[in-house]
Amino acid sequence: MRFLTWLKPTWSQLHIWNYFGSIKQMIDLAKENPDSEFFLFLANMHGFTQVHNQKEMQENSISAVKLYLACGADAKQFVIYNPADIPAHAQLNWVLTCITHMWFMERMHSYKDALDKWKAKEIWVWVFCYPILMAADILLYDANIVPVGKDQKQHVEYARDIAQKFNKIFWETFILPEAKVNSELWLIIWTDGRKMSKSYNNLIWLLDDEAIILKKIKQIPTGSQTVEESKNPDECNVYSLCKLFITETEDAELRKKYLAWGLSYKYAKEYLFEKIMDFLRPIQEKYNKISDQEIKDLLTKNAKYVNEISEKKIKDIYDKIGFNL
Ligand code: TRP
Repeated sequence: MRFLTWLKPTWSQLHIWNYFGSIKQMIDLAKENPDSEFFLFLANMHGFTQVHNQKEMQENSISAVKLYLACGADAKQFVIYNPADIPAHAQLNWVLTCITHMWFMERMHSYKDALDKWKAKEIWVWVFCYPILMAADILLYDANIVPVGKDQKQHVEYARDIAQKFNKIFWETFILPEAKVNSELWLIIWTDGRKMSKSYNNLIWLLDDEAIILKKIKQIPTGSQTVEESKNPDECNVYSLCKLFITETEDAELRKKYLAWGLSYKYAKEYLFEKIMDFLRPIQEKYNKISDQEIKDLLTKNAKYVNEISEKKIKDIYDKIGFNL
């Protein structure tokens, strides 16, 4: 069984939302499926839609892969590669473009969302065509399962439909991929009372240092109950953040403390700080130990393996189409 997932180099470092919303789920899934391969590609062809700066692109790419490994991805089970090293992504992209109707792309939520914001002539062509490249990324490797966020489910369904179409015209070629929608986090993370978002700069990044984290935790708004009053943990932002980092037993104890008297919000914030740092420190230490060269070597090694698979696939496709004479 082959899983396929991605890693976007649009941010120079990942935040805890990326971690719990995707990376951790992927690493857990890999542990639950020890006999499966996890193809993890650096979505730089996709990131290019937003990043137009050579240095930023290179540095973000390397940093993103490093962080994934530092978070615990096993480099033997996760085949991490750079699609820029694999010409077949672009080749299959064109093949699929030629058998896709406009109306199919016009149905995509991502395009419709863009139409809500801009006039059609102001929208980049990539917004319209993006699902086609995505389908190429998936179908090239006969991926069985594609774990994605809810917003990407429709794109995987398109990949499935277009694979079916190709199979019908040219005989069975592609495996039909299935989307596996990541479970959504049970909370919206706040550090300043607003939704966690890059534009508010209220995220906790995996590489933030102690001083920054302390500052962000201090900003978390709390209720106004005194130490003596009992508090409802389910209405407390500090508690909901803590929940991400603690075990079930610790959770039960913390809830008890909230409901009884004697817990100050100051204590809750110190507790949160300690738990976040316990979680981040090993990741940061591991990250700092990995050199850029190690990442480049890993990508080069994996490109060889992945190219063997993709070249075979694209040859089969080209043969069926009649490109190979
Ligand atoms: N579209 C995905 C996103 O932005 C990224 C992506 C590109 C992807 N190609 C893919 C995801 C192939 C899964 C499979 O979230």
